[in-house]
Amino acid sequence: MSFRALWQALLPIGRDPGTGGYRRFSWTAADLSCRDWFMTAAAAGGLAAEQDRDGNLWAWWDTAAEAGEADSDRMAGASRAGAVVAGSHLDSVPDGGAFDGPLGVVSAFAAVDALRGRGFTPARPVAVAAFTEEEGARFGVACLGSRLLTGAITAEAARGLRDADGVSLAEAMAAAGADPDLLGPDDELPDRVAAFVELHIEQGRQLVDLNAVIGVGSGIWPHGRWCFDFAGRADHAGTTALPDRRDPMLPFAATAVAARQVAGRHRALATFGKVSVLPGGVNAIPSAVRAWLDARAPDEGGLRSVVERITATAERAAADHGVTVVTVPESFSPPVEFDPALRARLSGALAKTGIRAPVLRTGAGHDAGVLAARIPTAMLFVRNPSGVSHAPREHAAWPDCETGVAALAAAIEELAAA
Ligand code: GLV
Ligand code: MN
Ligand code: MN
Repeated sequence: MSFRALWQALLPIGRDPGTGGYRRFSWTAADLSCRDWFMTAAAAGGLAAEQDRDGNLWAWWDTAAEAGEADSDRMAGASRAGAVVAGSHLDSVPDGGAFDGPLGVVSAFAAVDALRGRGFTPARPVAVAAFTEEEGARFGVACLGSRLLTGAITAEAARGLRDADGVSLAEAMAAAGADPDLLGPDDELPDRVAAFVELHIEQGRQLVDLNAVIGVGSGIWPHGRWCFDFAGRADHAGTTALPDRRDPMLPFAATAVAARQVAGRHRALATFGKVSVLPGGVNAIPSAVRAWLDARAPDEGGLRSVVERITATAERAAADHGVTVVTVPESFSPPVEFDPALRARLSGALAKTGIRAPVLRTGAGHDAGVLAARIPTAMLFVRNPSGVSHAPREHAAWPDCETGVAALAAAIEELAAA
């Protein structure tokens, strides 16, 4: 199927008609429809699709089957060693854009289709992959599927993660017909992958400024999420004198302002994008405020020191207001340098097809970053004219998407030719 046909089939799934944004949270109805779309795309492309124990999806270009190799060899996975895999994720942030994740999966299917169409026969197995819960939008831990696969989070810890309604990952998977008892690292599957390439919409404007359509990733800033729990005392908004209040909203507000100031002084980024206030009455002083900090910095030392400063402000402000605060780290991603040899090979392959691809470093997290600890990985970025991402305005032009498919096809061809 063409890029356009695959894209149009995926586009309506999980789309909010009011905002045009997406709510594709793992193991929900929208996610299950995305999984069906993946299976249909694989079947249409003649690929053998499967869901791994962690819910990640794989669609194999089964060259061994085409070559008539025995079923028993294929089932043992022997013929899938040394594979070249391209893909990304299908889940979204709340009210996310259409491109973050799906662009990489759709482009991978389209690239395989293009390679097959021009008669390329890979010397290695090739697969398209879609990883589960990359955004951590439902269960709080980003890149959950790739972390589970590589053992970066234990199955036990993952099973216990809970969404905003208190539903655990184990319960959500069981309700969706998946078996949470199977969760855990796969000792064989990552070892079968010789290279993983994730194509992604750029989440910024570096390519616009460089007047280039495609970029090659050099690395990812370290980043993480921390939950701040401010606990105060609920009371009446119309009768409680100001000196008598223990209002958790005030130290939270001071912490949010401090996060911006500290980040600015350290060339870092710090964001409070999610807050829950209990009990949530307009005319009541809250009993508790829970807020999530997303912080990122060029290096790990800088990131740690930014988070320490923000935490210290939270503690001081809480004490000033008679409130307690507890800070809990929820997920952490160390800095990533993508495999330099792989990056050089991709740059060379792109140059040969006439695609100039400057090298970009990003502050955004990706499954490629998690997999990089285990597998040689690379990233390709596609120009985003506005630079907006994680929002409905996220966009890439059709011709740029087509160039992305051509770039990914060139990358797969380079890696799978021998
Ligand atoms: C994922 O897109 C992230 O950077 O949080
Ligand atoms: Mn994202
Ligand atoms: Mn993404």
